[in-house]
Amino acid sequence: MEQPFKTRLTEMLGIQYPILMGGMQWITRAEFTAHACNAGGLGFITAESFETPEDLRQELRKMKDLTDRPFGVNISMIPELGNLKDRTHRLCDVVCEEGVPVVETAGRNPAPLVPALKSAGVKIIHKLTTVYHARKAQEAGVDAVALLGFGSGGHIGTQDVASFIALPMAVDRLDIPVIAAGGIADGKGFLGALAMGAEGVLLGSRFLATRECPIHDEVKEKYVKAGAEETALLMKSLGNPMRTIRNRLADEVLAIEARGATLEEILKYVAGRRTRSAYMDGDPENSMLPCGQVVGLIDEIKTVSQVIQDIIDEAKILMNRLKKMES
Ligand SMILES: Cc1cc2nc3c(=O)[nH]c(=O)nc-3n(C[C@H](O)[C@H](O)[C@H](O)COP(=O)(O)O)c2cc1C
Repeated sequence: MEQPFKTRLTEMLGIQYPILMGGMQWITRAEFTAHACNAGGLGFITAESFETPEDLRQELRKMKDLTDRPFGVNISMIPELGNLKDRTHRLCDVVCEEGVPVVETAGRNPAPLVPALKSAGVKIIHKLTTVYHARKAQEAGVDAVALLGFGSGGHIGTQDVASFIALPMAVDRLDIPVIAAGGIADGKGFLGALAMGAEGVLLGSRFLATRECPIHDEVKEKYVKAGAEETALLMKSLGNPMRTIRNRLADEVLAIEARGATLEEILKYVAGRRTRSAYMDGDPENSMLPCGQVVGLIDEIKTVSQVIQDIIDEAKILMNRLKKMES
């Protein structure tokens, strides 16, 4: 197996390339996620896409038929999902019982989940947005952190620090592997992140514009056509900003937030089920569609394996170019 970019992450997870597909609610189900694993990377099935922990269990069993490579589960501990404690622990139990090799935790301090995951031998990658929280996660015993920069898609925290600053800071201050998350779509971003000390990358938006991604073609087209400046930060007024595509709904939410809308008013617009039906029915204007500024770099629908292979091939070319710069 060719392993041109071997790092502590590839060794820890037993994967060919240090390229991860982050969990994306409703989207990263078994069929889609398996493509990332079979192409030499690793994808995370999002636990929050399932009604019950038993539904997640069935999906994990399906996954084992679709790939014999390692795969992960995303456990997003998002406050608005209600009855968090019990549900999250039950999802975590299923992950441990089904022998899932790695989880991507996000949204809150993962410390309460660490003992159970560790004793089941599950590796923990905690996704976060600040170096401060990365150090806390390391102290709590996670195996790696995925650090999201300001331009990333989805929940991006409130620090507004760009990856170019946060990444080298995290690498200098942590002992565990740091994964650069967000803002990466090609070999330039990949190699740049590794040059800054990251030991892997985690992508979301780039994988939306793939042939296998189970969202409607019109939504994919919206992502392909969008420029880097066509994203919006919704729910900033609630202290929980989410980066999405700038569409009709985003403009409406920004307008009501500007006039001081309440949580209840905002939630009517950003409800997850609206997003889910937009993905299925192909309505790219009237629901919240998470994505990163990296949409500006996405201008073609590829296969998942092409996305991963193109990143590796471009990075190799760039490495050679850099080597030639040595005098
Ligand atoms: C459509 C979409 C849905 C997402 N859903 C989740 C989720 O449910 N849980 C989570 O932890 N992250 C979620 N994310 C964030 C991604 O896992 C990843 O961290 C992010 O997309 C990386 O930034 P990028 O889009 O710039 O590559 C989502 C991102 C997108 C684009």
